[in-house]
Amino acid sequence: MAVTGLILIGFLLFHAFGNFKLLIPDEGAEFNEYSHLLRRLLYPILPPMFFLWGFRIFMLAATGLHLYSAYKLTGRRWSSAGVSGRYVSQKPSTSKAHSYAARTMIWGGIIIVLFVIMHLLQFTAQVLTFGYPDGTTTLEPYDRTLAGFSEWWVVLVYAIAMLAVCVHVFHGFWSAFATLGANVSAKSQGVLKGLAVLISAALYFGFMIPPVLILFGVIGQ
Ligand code: HEM
Repeated sequence: MAVTGLILIGFLLFHAFGNFKLLIPDEGAEFNEYSHLLRRLLYPILPPMFFLWGFRIFMLAATGLHLYSAYKLTGRRWSSAGVSGRYVSQKPSTSKAHSYAARTMIWGGIIIVLFVIMHLLQFTAQVLTFGYPDGTTTLEPYDRTLAGFSEWWVVLVYAIAMLAVCVHVFHGFWSAFATLGANVSAKSQGVLKGLAVLISAALYFGFMIPPVLILFGVIGQ
């Protein structure tokens, strides 16, 4: 669970950083180029899309293993909690914020899974065409992103989902390093907690800055 969680956090940092290309005032040239480049990475050594599909399969395997471990762990915790079936954290929590995050891991995880399904239908498959001009079914990545976040309620849904992502990452990051044996002293606990706050805050602002700037017309003018 710790290793797969850290792989997924790595992906999120990479993804949020990549989204900052939306801020370049070149009408999406760089962002579209980046998106197309990801699809043609290592081409012509490998066929087009080969690297991307390899990466997708790797991420899917990491996500599957992460969900399977979560399912096993939650089952064990619920059965040890007795008839009430309440979620009980096995790790002693060190603060109110940590114990809140620990108790809500399963629910945060469920929200994230639902969010990712919606997100892929919107941005990868373009089945959910929020904000697209009438009669349009496909748009370039930059225009797709602008269209989606021109709707206030889409930005709101993302703001709520990103909150779930960050609470999950906050506890997950700290917990992963504790599982890997890094939580050996009060000092290391402090460092891990500080890093957990830093990474989850960076992810929240990193992910939400482009959608908010699109909504207020700062990007895409
Ligand atoms: C406000 C936050 C986010 C924005 C603006 C955003 C934007 C995008 C865009 C524009 C794409 C399509 C890129 C392309 O077609 O080249 C994409 C793909 C994707 N996003 Fe996000 N994203 C956000 C948050 C997230 C989060 C939190 C996750 C995971 C929990 C995530 C997971 C993915 C995945 C798995 C893909 C598909 C990559 C692929 O095609 O293989 N995104 N995102």
